[in-house]
Amino acid sequence: MSFRPAGFRPAVVRYAVALVFALSSGAIFAQEAKNPAPAATAATPAAAEQAAKPAEATAAVKPGDVTAGQGKAAACGACHGMDGNSTDPQYPKLAGQSEAYIVHQLTNFKSGKRQNPIMLGMATPLSEQDMHDIGAYFASKSALPGVADQALVARGEQLYRQGDTSKGVPACMACHSIDGRGNPGAMYPQLTSQHAQYIEATLKAWHDGTVWGEDAHAQIMPGIAKKLDEKDIAAVASYVEGLHAAEGAGPSAAK
Ligand code: HEC
Ligand code: HEC
Repeated sequence: MSFRPAGFRPAVVRYAVALVFALSSGAIFAQEAKNPAPAATAATPAAAEQAAKPAEATAAVKPGDVTAGQGKAAACGACHGMDGNSTDPQYPKLAGQSEAYIVHQLTNFKSGKRQNPIMLGMATPLSEQDMHDIGAYFASKSALPGVADQALVARGEQLYRQGDTSKGVPACMACHSIDGRGNPGAMYPQLTSQHAQYIEATLKAWHDGTVWGEDAHAQIMPGIAKKLDEKDIAAVASYVEGLHAAEGAGPSAAK
């Protein structure tokens, strides 16, 4: 397994990625097949970027195929678990996450909007079709339940279910749904059973100024995380990890 050096400049990466994407996209190959000449024009960054856009927008990509995805996901298992249930809590569980959200995040890593040197290396060789197939595979698996810290559950549940109007924090469940399964259509991810350590690290990064791109969608979580202090983050992260189990037997079942 080879990773890109961490010092890779985002601008260079974006250019290289646009080029790789344009050259590997089916739309370009189809064009080349009809007329071999335009291949030369794709070598300029502007042309490559322009060419990449329509390719992204077209319906050339088929919905993900679980069986094809299983093979393509073999390289991911070392960190995320073969069935998407990672054992090391620094790596997010992917099991049960929606195909749309997995594709969205892989695209973010590949474009450098979401910066992570490991995932840049993993996402760069993937085509859009690969991302859909892998996404479909992990979406077909179930996240193994985690456990919440009982000392943190009350505050975590309050934030998750009601938010905190005094701090301007909305209820998480408004978007991530009452059972934490999210909303694939709106690309709100599943949170239930996710490792608290990963949730906490992600919320802290947003709190401290990290963003995953400039679009409106990517502004939502940084805006919310800025209003949470460290204790809030620890509490809601722990609650979310135990959400799956809590639905059946925990304090939240009493409500
Ligand atoms: C060497 C370890 C490693 C391998 C191998 C790896 N990942 Fe990751 N992955 C990570 C880390 C670390 C993160 C968290 C990145 C961050 O904090 O932004 C991550 C995050 C992700 C996310 C975002 C999840 C979320 O909930 O936001 C997706 C999707 C993902 N990886 C997919 C994949 C796929 C698909 C593969 C295989 C092609 C893969 N990963 C291989 C380490 C790895
Ligand atoms: C208005 C809708 C909305 C609300 C309310 C909301 N979220 Fe989110 N959340 C999102 C969106 C959208 C994303 C995906 C971020 C992206 O793609 O840039 C997300 C992503 C996340 C993630 C990253 C998951 C992953 O695996 O990548 C975490 C953690 C999270 N939210 C926690 C929370 C918590 C905790 C709250 C409540 C304090 C909350 N969210 C409230 C919309 C919302």
